[in-house]
Amino acid sequence: MRDPSDDLAVNRAVWTVVNEEFTDAQAHDLWAAPEFVWGLFNIPERELGVLGDVTGLDVIELGCGTAYVSAWLAKLGARPVGVDLTPAQLDTARRCQERFGLSFDLIEANAEDVPLPDDSFDLVVSEYGACVWCNPERWIPEAARLVRPGGRLVFLTNSVQVTMCVPEAGGHAGDRLLRPQNGTSRVEWPGGGVEFHPSHGDWIRVLRASGFEVEALHELYAPANSRTPEYYDIATAEWANNWPVEDLWTARLTR
Ligand SMILES: C[S@@+](CC[C@H](N)C(=O)[O-])C[C@H]1O[C@@H](n2cnc3c(N)ncnc32)[C@H](O)[C@@H]1O
Repeated sequence: MRDPSDDLAVNRAVWTVVNEEFTDAQAHDLWAAPEFVWGLFNIPERELGVLGDVTGLDVIELGCGTAYVSAWLAKLGARPVGVDLTPAQLDTARRCQERFGLSFDLIEANAEDVPLPDDSFDLVVSEYGACVWCNPERWIPEAARLVRPGGRLVFLTNSVQVTMCVPEAGGHAGDRLLRPQNGTSRVEWPGGGVEFHPSHGDWIRVLRASGFEVEALHELYAPANSRTPEYYDIATAEWANNWPVEDLWTARLTR
């Protein structure tokens, strides 16, 4: 029987390497970004309007990495707390906090088991964090525990389509289905981490089981004239002009 703590160790090791290769160097530019944008192709929040007014809201970011999303939320007037599993990622986030004079709590923890009380937040956010790297059967109930009744959950993850079109060995998505949808819930990349990519139906089932009502699923394409991202070889801009590359979900706790 597989021990879930093995997945944590694998993912922590992956993100320690990615931090050294890429995210540590990239963090400064992201913290300095002039506005809140979503995803690989930088779609402005002002166009999508998924967050609403976050002024004065208590927000928790699950799998915050270098915490640039939390920094953008703080600049918009929210009170963020960032949670992440990987010390190297949090070290980068702390350095950026000092450089940008922005201070908020950063907690080293598994987003499936956060050491904070129930009903502490108005908004739970994950941008390629817990929503990719944690088991939805564990982190969604944890998000529901942390958020106050009527509070919201917003998360951005790889689209179902891109997950099925990326080759087994990694690399950019092609224009054919290369893996079955049955089985994408848990994906182990060769030499990489353990990810979770449920189908849309599975997301809705898990969200509703924890008391969330789905508000919207925004399927994000690359805007015209986008450039293919440099480090993450998931999809080219041309691919993402044709198929949604990211799923941006919003839900409200109605229980
Ligand atoms: C792609 S980063 C997301 C952060 C940021 N938005 C970004 O794009 O760089 C993924 C982050 O999830 C974190 N992570 C992976 N598994 C986790 C877990 N079980 N609990 C908390 N964080 C986790 C990793 O340490 C990593 O920093």
